[in-house]
Amino acid sequence: TILYGVFGDPVRHSKSPIMLNRAFRESGINAVYAAFHVAPGALGDAVRGIRALGYRGVNVTIPHKVEVMQYLDEVDEGAQVIGAVNTIVNDNGRLVGYNTDGIGYVRSLKEENGLELAGRRVVLLGAGGAARGVGYALAREGVASLRIVNRTAERAVELAAALSAYADCAGAGMDGAAAAVRDADIVVNTTSAGMHPNVDDVPLDPELLHGGLVASDLIYNPLKTKFLAEAERRGAKVHGGLGMFIYQGAYAFEYWTGRPAPVAAMRQTVLEALG
Ligand code: ATR
Repeated sequence: TILYGVFGDPVRHSKSPIMLNRAFRESGINAVYAAFHVAPGALGDAVRGIRALGYRGVNVTIPHKVEVMQYLDEVDEGAQVIGAVNTIVNDNGRLVGYNTDGIGYVRSLKEENGLELAGRRVVLLGAGGAARGVGYALAREGVASLRIVNRTAERAVELAAALSAYADCAGAGMDGAAAAVRDADIVVNTTSAGMHPNVDDVPLDPELLHGGLVASDLIYNPLKTKFLAEAERRGAKVHGGLGMFIYQGAYAFEYWTGRPAPVAAMRQTVLEALG
C-alpha cells in the first residue's frame, strides 16, 4: 500500500482525503490518503516523519504552506516565487516541494470556461497568499496585463513588483478598481469576501461589473458567491472556485503517480461531500 496524506491545522474539514482516495480507487492504485492534524511547532517532526514512514506524497495546507519549505530538500521554482508549498513528493527519501494551487486554478479556468489566457487583461482582487499563487500562474500564461487591486494598496503594489518579471503588472488600492475592471477581460476574486458565513460580502462595488467579463472566484463555499451572482446578472460569464480545489489535487496526484488524474470522479465525490 502506497501512503499519502495532508498536514493541516485545522484539517478535519478537509475534502482532500475523500477526493484523493476516490482518485486512487478509480485508477486502480493501492494507496491510502489520510488527514494529519499537525499543530504549530510540530511541522518539522511531521515532515521528517514522511521520510521515516516512507510516505510517497503529502499535501500541506493552512497554516503550514510557508514554514514547510525550510524542511524540504528542494523547492520547485514556481513554489519559490510564490513562497509556499502545498505538495511534497518523496523521491526515495528526497523531499521536493511544489505549489499546485495556481496551476490548478489556471487549468480549471481553461477547462471549465474554454478560455485562452494569452493576451487577456486580468484583474486580481486581493493581494494575499492565494493571490500570489494565482497571479504567478496567470502571469506565466502570457496574459496581456495583470492589475492587482487590494483594500491595502501597499500589498497590491508589492505583489505586482514580485510578478513583474513574468507579466505587465501594476498594483493599486480600491480607488483603482473602476478603471481596471472597465478595461478587463477577466476579474478574479482571491479575497475571502463572500466566503461562508459572510455570504453577503462582495470584494468590490458590483456596479463595476459588466457583460464583457469572465468573473472568477476562488471561493467554493458557497459554490456561487454574491460576487459571481452580481456579475452573472450583468451578463458576465462566471467561474467558481471548486475547480481550483479539484485541479490542485489532480496535479498532486499526477506528480505522485505519473498518471492522469480521474478529474470527473474527483469532482463528483467532492460535490457529494459538500452536500
Ligand atoms: P489568503 O491566503 O486566503 O489569500 P491572506 O493572505 O490573509 O489570505 O489575504 C487575504 C486577502 O483578502 C487580502 O488581500 C485582504 O486584503 P488586505 O490585504 O487589505 O487585508 C483581502 N480581504 C480579506 N477580507 C476582505 C474583505 N472583507 N474585503 C476586501 N478584501 C478582503
